Amino acid sequence: MAGGFLPAVGAVREDFGGKLTVSVYITCIVAASCGLIFGYDIGISGGVTTMEPFLRRFFPSVLRKMRQSKQNEYCMYDSQLLTSFTSSLYIAGLIGSLGASRVTRALGRRASMLLGGATFLTGATINGAAVNVVMLIVGRILLGIGVGFTNQATPLYLAETAPPKWRGAFISGFQLFLGIGVAAANLINYGTAKIHGWGWRLSLGLAAVPALIMTTGTLLVPDTASSLIQRGKIDEARRALQRVRGSGADVEAELQCLTEETMKSEAVEKPFRDIFKRRYRPQLVMSIAIPLFQQLTGINVVAFYAPVLFRSVGFGSDSSLMAAVILCLVNLGSILVSTYIVDRYGRKVLFMEGGVQMILFLTAVACVLGVKIGSSGTSPLSKGDAVLVLVLMCAYAAGFGWSWGPLCWLIPSEIFPLEIRPAGQSISIAANFAVTFVLAQFFLSMLCHFKYGIFLFYAGFIAIMTVFVAVFLPETKGVPLEAMDRVWEKHWYWRRFVVLERTAPKMNGYSNSI
Ligand code: BGC
Repeated sequence: MAGGFLPAVGAVREDFGGKLTVSVYITCIVAASCGLIFGYDIGISGGVTTMEPFLRRFFPSVLRKMRQSKQNEYCMYDSQLLTSFTSSLYIAGLIGSLGASRVTRALGRRASMLLGGATFLTGATINGAAVNVVMLIVGRILLGIGVGFTNQATPLYLAETAPPKWRGAFISGFQLFLGIGVAAANLINYGTAKIHGWGWRLSLGLAAVPALIMTTGTLLVPDTASSLIQRGKIDEARRALQRVRGSGADVEAELQCLTEETMKSEAVEKPFRDIFKRRYRPQLVMSIAIPLFQQLTGINVVAFYAPVLFRSVGFGSDSSLMAAVILCLVNLGSILVSTYIVDRYGRKVLFMEGGVQMILFLTAVACVLGVKIGSSGTSPLSKGDAVLVLVLMCAYAAGFGWSWGPLCWLIPSEIFPLEIRPAGQSISIAANFAVTFVLAQFFLSMLCHFKYGIFLFYAGFIAIMTVFVAVFLPETKGVPLEAMDRVWEKHWYWRRFVVLERTAPKMNGYSNSI
């Protein structure tokens, strides 16, 4: 470790009372804008794959099938080839996020975010210029690697920069920008669908805009103090801390504590091996369970396929895209609600309320579709019923927007100790991509076979995950990252896994408040 800074042995750990400075707001908003590129991609692909000129050019067989098989509303978009266009990004993202762990540890959180932005930008350019399926797929792979890096590094950046008391709201900012990306993409699709012949090109190429915004923004913010210390850059870490904690703030104690944590973390040389040790079991289980469950809420049924889905249940093509836009706006509003609640009332209350709300409204969607179109899927919904489906879906999307949406980024980024934080975050993001891939690949086929029952399938999973969270997830609201081990030691189930070997003394005034 360079920089000549030696901590006093056993520095006291505490919440250093990080204040809400203008600088911490700006830094975190800029970092959270990395969510834009993932959101843009999620929102754009569903709409583009319903555009006829796009299908005619790249997937003519799907178009033929659509024209011939109008007889079953649930099945007309069921094509493995078309789905692989959407889901190829997730395989690339999975690989990207695992690779990102090394970069994030060795070169810093910011380096991973920059690399992700630049790769995404290249992918967007290739996709906008695509003249054949190969260009389309190569572009998507680059987009995937890009979001693999940014999704891995950004939540960590936010967790390490935000004051502990408001960490939840700041990390939810990532999901907020993600939601803005989804909404913008849907609006753009709504407009470009009207441009005959090349509207899809504009939709795909415009992905360069959010990439430019987040890459430029990231160039302007410093790396996190933890990451700088880990790389021996003590003076830079001091400056980074001073910048976010405000001029005049005394950051020495916090710097000292972070340095101690870093020294401890240096004992771990192979984080991907050590993370499987028994003492990290609770974090490991959560880092896989949370993204797995998030995807099993069925949200991407709505996010990717909202336009396809609405067409499938009887909306016209224009109103399908509009319905998708409305859904996104509701989702966006609900993320804002979450930023207000998450640090005041905690993570679990949002998980519980959101879970129950999603179960109820998904079940209601299944009932309406079951009664009105049944399993034959031959009679499209009446206008009134289609609007009812949209309203019910909005209520479901709101439930997701203030629970599993933001919390899926928040929980994994805050539960790991520094030594395995990048590895843990990579596993979590990779799990998210893996499950998204599987579900994206099979959703249209499942819709075709399960019909309206697909919504009951997801409602069942939400019931299971809501119970899981109630029983196994400890509350992490307001707990400083450096003190997070305490929540597991106090948990009725996880405490048996956590080794109570602690090198540093107890935190002043903190241990009783968890
Ligand atoms: C999920 C995505 C989803 C998006 C919807 C994210 O938190 O990880 O899979 O498409 O939310 O807004």
